[in-house]
Amino acid sequence: MSLKRELLYEGKAKKIYRETSEKVFVEYKDSLTAFNAQKLGSFEGKGIVNRNITVLLYKYLEGQGVKTHFISAEEPNGIVATEVKIIPLEIVVRNILAGSTAKKFNIEEGRILERPLVEFYFKNDELGDPFISDDQAVALKVVSGPEIPQLKEIALKVNSALRVLFAKANLQLVDFKIEVGADSKGQLLLADEITPDCCRLWDVRTQEKFDKDRFRRDLGRVKESYEEVLKRLENALGVTK
Ligand SMILES: Nc1ncnc2c1ncn2[C@@H]1O[C@H](COP(=O)(O)OP(=O)(O)O)[C@@H](O)[C@H]1O
Ligand SMILES: [Mg+2]
Repeated sequence: MSLKRELLYEGKAKKIYRETSEKVFVEYKDSLTAFNAQKLGSFEGKGIVNRNITVLLYKYLEGQGVKTHFISAEEPNGIVATEVKIIPLEIVVRNILAGSTAKKFNIEEGRILERPLVEFYFKNDELGDPFISDDQAVALKVVSGPEIPQLKEIALKVNSALRVLFAKANLQLVDFKIEVGADSKGQLLLADEITPDCCRLWDVRTQEKFDKDRFRRDLGRVKESYEEVLKRLENALGVTK
């Protein structure tokens, strides 16, 4: 178990341990945070459900030709992944306007965008992860110029693949956040996690929310919603247990 591993980093939702020279063990915690950790919560089994959702989605994305950090999932509370140097950008894709961007432009949540929108936020807790333009990201050396279109391409590919899968699970993929990093050879890999903590998922028929907004907005049934996402994805993919 993780006891013998060296802890490299403890974040808000996960712990990163050294596995081997180029691999890490990513442990999923039960904690839940929102609004840059000003709101704290947790529920029992959250780490495991999020870990299971990530495993299922990353295996699916690999099958769709997306290169990810996922290597294996032998332990129930985490995964073994390729160690990457994370590009400090939160890459957000929006299909439907909600959350901060809807608020910023005073547009009611739920407006369907004609084309998916990719946005970058500078991953920096002290600054509250501010929006950063493409030019700012390059000028401030957060990324190199050629990486900008590569990141957008990865984000849009992940979006198209996930939209199809979530549709089979009767969920609309409203928006999501990913992180990308470079492995030791400089290859860009989808890293971190994709879970209801970093997606907005609305029921296709009822528009009911099945994501972290239930916690942010005190809507209740947080645990049940995360578990329902996993169950629907397993059904959509025909996973038998
Ligand atoms: N494969 C990886 N290699 C190195 N770092 C990673 C990898 N996947 C994710 N990370 C980083 O590990 C941390 C994950 O922990 P998390 O609790 O989500 O952190 P945070 O509080 O910064 O969101 C993040 O900083 C993320 O960028
Ligand atoms: Mg995180």
